[in-house]
Parts: sequence; structure tokens; C-alpha cells
Amino acid sequence: MKRRMFLTLVATATAASATLFTAPVAQAADDVKIGFLVKQPEEPWFQDEWKFAEMAAKAKGFTLVKIGAPSGEKVMSAIDNLAAQKAQGFVICTPDVKLGPGIVAKAKAAGLKMMTVDDRLVDGSGKPIESVPYMGISAFNIGKQVGDGIAAEIKKRGWNMAEVGAIDVTYEQLPTAHDRTAGAVEALVAAGFPKANIVMAPQAKTDTENAFNAANIALTKNTNFKHWVAFGLNDEAVLGAVRAAEGRGFKADNMIGVGIGGSDSALNEFKKPNPTGFYGTVIISPKRHGEETSELMYTWIKDGKEPPLVTLTTGMLATRDNVGEVREKMGLASAK
Ligand code: GLA
Repeated sequence: MKRRMFLTLVATATAASATLFTAPVAQAADDVKIGFLVKQPEEPWFQDEWKFAEMAAKAKGFTLVKIGAPSGEKVMSAIDNLAAQKAQGFVICTPDVKLGPGIVAKAKAAGLKMMTVDDRLVDGSGKPIESVPYMGISAFNIGKQVGDGIAAEIKKRGWNMAEVGAIDVTYEQLPTAHDRTAGAVEALVAAGFPKANIVMAPQAKTDTENAFNAANIALTKNTNFKHWVAFGLNDEAVLGAVRAAEGRGFKADNMIGVGIGGSDSALNEFKKPNPTGFYGTVIISPKRHGEETSELMYTWIKDGKEPPLVTLTTGMLATRDNVGEVREKMGLASAK
């Protein structure tokens, strides 16, 4: 009898202490914290990604830590910071894809799960690091949509292709940028555009100012064209080219710029009372890249289900005439 009572007491005490002990742990497991690091926090695309990631955080009940990480140093200290805050994982658009092995090692050492978005990490030989889940745009195809859109508009305007120059704003060190402009070139050439009229304009950084400078050099060196078209990796690149062309008198009537993105940089351009040389943009989805990546990370942390290793998203060409409709179709209309 005594023994039975003793055992009961022990069992009760164990249960009590187990409850006491497990309660805070259970709470901590519920307390999911996810970092979202972006290379250019000032760019509207990344602002949109963050906005959609916040929506996922609200809906699922996790904490989102938004961090601007424009350099390798910032990425490394952000990972330390996240680990110190007891985050369990992060989504990142890296400032430099070549930082790949270093970021992977750092995340591993910090015990953080990692998924990449937009720009895919590469290893020492430039090959994608396939073990890290990635969501990016289907770059080459979207580039082709840009080229097709430009070619169709050249034809609609009845321009003689021999008299048209194309500013190809390039950023070759970033594979997704290379694929996007390569796709545009392929579509243009397939539509009969003379390859020799395509002028490479390498930009030093992927923003409007650097694209403007690159396009200015291309325009200065090529004074023989009557009309211009422009493409690049994103809206900012094309806006730079459009502004440079305007400076030389090539306005909406003589310039067809088609970007990639569809965030505020493009939307603001379409809202101007008069059309500019920024003719269109292939709208891609910050909703999928922000909300879906965060949700995938959340599920990975909560349920141990790893995200798919590669997800490629699509886009739709929009001009100032149908931008509202296209945004609607892409599920972005109510987002602003
Ligand atoms: C890259 C570009 C961004 C945006 C994303 C979309 O990161 O720098 O402007 O186009 O890709 O995936």
C-alpha cells in the first residue's frame, strides 16, 4: 500500500514537473520566427515581397524579421542576428550569388533553415547550389515575352527594323539577368530584328541610375538609329534606358521600352498623364515570391516539410492600356 502510494506520488510529481518543463518548450516551438533578407530594400519589387511576406506572417501567426542586406558583410551579420533572436529559418535574395557557399555554411552553423528567392546561389564554379530550395522567375521565357512584346509593337508602328537600335541593359554576373536578356534577344532576332543593331549596355548595379549611365554610353556611341527599343533584367533597368533616350529626344513615339516586374516603378510610369518610352512590363508575382516562400519556410519549420527545390514562376505582359486587367488576372489587384 505504502509502495503504491509512493509510486502514485512519484507519477504525479513527474507529470507535474513534466508539464512545468514542457509548457515553455511547447510555447517556444509555436513561436516561429522567420527572417526575410533582400539585397535592395529600396527597390519596389522587394518592398512588395516584404509586404506579401507580412501577409503570410499575419495569416499563419509567425514573426517576420525584415532585413536589408546589400552586402556580404550585412548578410553574415544578419544571420548571426537571426540566430541570436532564436529565429528558425530565413528566406534570402542575396546581394551576390557567388556568396553561395559562405551563406550555406553560415546558415548551417547557425542551425537556420534557408530558402532563396529571385537570385539563385552558385558554387565556386558558378553552378547553382541545387540543395537549397529556390523560387525564381522562369527567366529565359519571361525575357522572350519581353522580346515578343517589343517586336509586335515595332511591327504595329510600321518601323523599318534596319533603322531601330536596341539597348540591351545587361548584368551578366547574375544568371537570372543573363537569361532574361538572352531570352529577349532570341525573340527579337527570331522576329527578324537585326542582331547587329543590338547594343550591349552593361550596368554596374541593378538600379535605374546605373542603367541610365550604361544606356547613355550606348546612345552616344550609336547615333545612326532613327528609333530605339530597350530591355533589361527589370523595370529599373529599362527605366534608366528610357530616361537616357528621352534626354536625347527619343520620347514615347520613338522608343519602346519593356521591363520586367510590374511594381511601383512601372505602375507610376503608366500613371503619368502622357505615355513615355516605357511601353510595357512583364508583370511577375511578388505575391508568390514573398507570401509563398514565407509560407513554405513556415511549413518547413513547423512540420519538417522541406520546400520544393526549384519553383519557377511566370509573368504576363502589360501595357498602360491593360495593366489593371493583368494585375487582376495575376491576383495582385487588391494588393495596393
Ligand atoms: C532580381 C532582380 C529584381 C527582380 C527579381 C525578380 O532579383 O534584381 O529586380 O526582378 O529578380 O525575381
